[in-house]
Amino acid sequence: MALYSEKVMDHFRNPRNVGVIEDADGVGEVGNAVCGDIMKIYLKIDDGIVTDVRFETFGCGSAIASSSMATELIKGRPLEEAAQLSNKAVTQALDGLPAHKLHCSVLAEEAIQAALEDYRRRQAVAAAEKS
Ligand code: FES
Repeated sequence: MALYSEKVMDHFRNPRNVGVIEDADGVGEVGNAVCGDIMKIYLKIDDGIVTDVRFETFGCGSAIASSSMATELIKGRPLEEAAQLSNKAVTQALDGLPAHKLHCSVLAEEAIQAALEDYRRRQAVAAAEKS
């Protein structure tokens, strides 16, 4: 059996949603201290829906495939659903990752959580400024 599924190879070779959102509503950046890989997620949110999502990943093929799949899984989804995205769901959607590469999908989950956290923080600041 091949080490990587066809889906992993597809998302690695043709990653979806690569890039930057200049006027993002939330940005999250995380890294893995062991392998040194870094992942950054940009979110555009309108009316509680993730209307756009982009990523920049400086890392291994599994990290790129995980970022790509994770962005596909939350694009167009309500915030609550995006917040529940787990690395397990990303791995399943990729038809699996080798055990020593599971942490790459964890990075995707963490980057999305960090971007959502940034969005919530910005919302709180905006609300405080209004009052
Ligand atoms: Fe660390 Fe893939 S080897 S994110």
